[in-house]
Amino acid sequence: MPVDLEAVCEIIEKHGYQKASLIGILQDIQGKMNYLPRKALVQVAKSLDIPITNVYEVATFYKAFSLEPKGKHTLQVCLGTACHVRGGARVLNYLENRLEVKSGRTTKDLTFTLESVNCLGACALGPMMVIDKKYYGKINTNKIESVLKKYQ
Ligand code: FES
Repeated sequence: MPVDLEAVCEIIEKHGYQKASLIGILQDIQGKMNYLPRKALVQVAKSLDIPITNVYEVATFYKAFSLEPKGKHTLQVCLGTACHVRGGARVLNYLENRLEVKSGRTTKDLTFTLESVNCLGACALGPMMVIDKKYYGKINTNKIESVLKKYQ
């Protein structure tokens, strides 16, 4: 996948080439490209005149950053206690098999990034699944299929 280095340079310039703006720069790159491509990180290191290892330290420290392309949709399954006792792990397992991807990874066609979370604050409706902030409660395999159709 080609990396738009011109866009990366514009973002760095917007932040005034400030080393202290590293997190903001990475946030903007992630916002634009949906992940942090290696070439972009190399460009950031060069432009800010800091070691690439410093850039990687920050990029890997924060969970919000991803070094791999993210899917068009983020699909989260709750494994909090209330959802777990109602079959949250089964839901996640079903999705891992159905989408052929492990939790924390992105499908080959870049449609979904599958994640597990600890509580979505809607415990009474468990097991819960969320796609791009849209909540689907009392989810089961039949419901999963009809929901997935909307996004594929
Ligand atoms: S435990 Fe799943 S929403 Fe709270």
